Amino acid sequence: MYILGMESSCDETSASVVEIVDSKPYIRSNIVASQIDIHRLYGGVVPEIASRAHIEAVSRITHEALDGAGITLKDLGAIAVTSSPGLIGALLVGVNFAKSLAFANGIPLVPVDHIKGHVAAAYFEAEELKPPFLALVVSGGHTSIYHIKDYAEFEELGTTRDDAAGEAFDKIARVMGMPYPGGAALDKLAYEGDPKAIKFPSPALHGDNLDFSFSGLKTSALNYINSNAQKGIAISYADVAASYTECVVKAICSKVESALEKTGATAFAISGGVAANSHLRSALARLCEKKGVEFAMPDRSLCGDNGAMIALAGYFEYQKGNFADTYLNASAYSPLD
Ligand code: KG4
Ligand code: ZN
Repeated sequence: MYILGMESSCDETSASVVEIVDSKPYIRSNIVASQIDIHRLYGGVVPEIASRAHIEAVSRITHEALDGAGITLKDLGAIAVTSSPGLIGALLVGVNFAKSLAFANGIPLVPVDHIKGHVAAAYFEAEELKPPFLALVVSGGHTSIYHIKDYAEFEELGTTRDDAAGEAFDKIARVMGMPYPGGAALDKLAYEGDPKAIKFPSPALHGDNLDFSFSGLKTSALNYINSNAQKGIAISYADVAASYTECVVKAICSKVESALEKTGATAFAISGGVAANSHLRSALARLCEKKGVEFAMPDRSLCGDNGAMIALAGYFEYQKGNFADTYLNASAYSPLD
């Protein structure tokens, strides 16, 4: 069975064809049209510009995805589309395009939650990964820990009370002059600094919870950078990057460790754009090794937003009979939150 996955929740328009053979997913094409160069001019995603760029790209990339997989619309068993959460105008472009394509061609339409898509990305690499397991979705918009009870059944165990980890990385990177989104550049710079040089507050919330709060950490780092600049004191951006990253990584590891202990989970997966962070990947791999927990992480190319993860999550919804009709609407919020 071939599934077309469509993603347009933020600043990437993506279409992908995933083939399911004997219950195993194979990516036959995965076209990602990134808008990063456009939004970089403004230092962040401009929703209205994002919607327009999705409109310009959506038809072209869908053709490219079908051509790349060597199939036509009549070969599709389903069309899966991200319907929540995200920027409402951006989501509506994908939802309306997928809806038209599905109903004009008599193809079943499956709505997909973006978060479920990110988690699905982990299955491509780790063939042995099966629910139940614990998952951390860490991206520009999310930092949440889920109990994955079944392929399409998630329970949120903890989340951020304010900013997402990706936002926190991007903001500090921006203040240090790195182009948007600076997460990946900060990841590299952190290798050149001392992770113990600066003491920042931990974003792991105190108490018996699995929640995070990144705004205090972000403000503390901004104050450190700005107050030193005002006093004319030179600081090492590499030390800021290393100390800040260490703080984020430690907080995430400590909450993941608590979640593993609370749930007794024997497998753990990470996903989302920030799951590409090399410091986080190795710290979590070490933690899972120490705990004797199976660890799954998507290839870096599948950590960010892409259509393949939506196609696979769509397959799981398809198996449960979760289809949409012409009334399908987009929602800025996830029912999982
Ligand atoms: O999942 P994603 O593509 O979009 C959302 O759903 O938000 O995640 C984008 C986020 C950005 O904040 C970006 O800076 C961050 O992922 N990111 C990274 C790295 N690569 C991407 N953050 C830290 N280290 C990285 N290597
Ligand atoms: Zn995402």
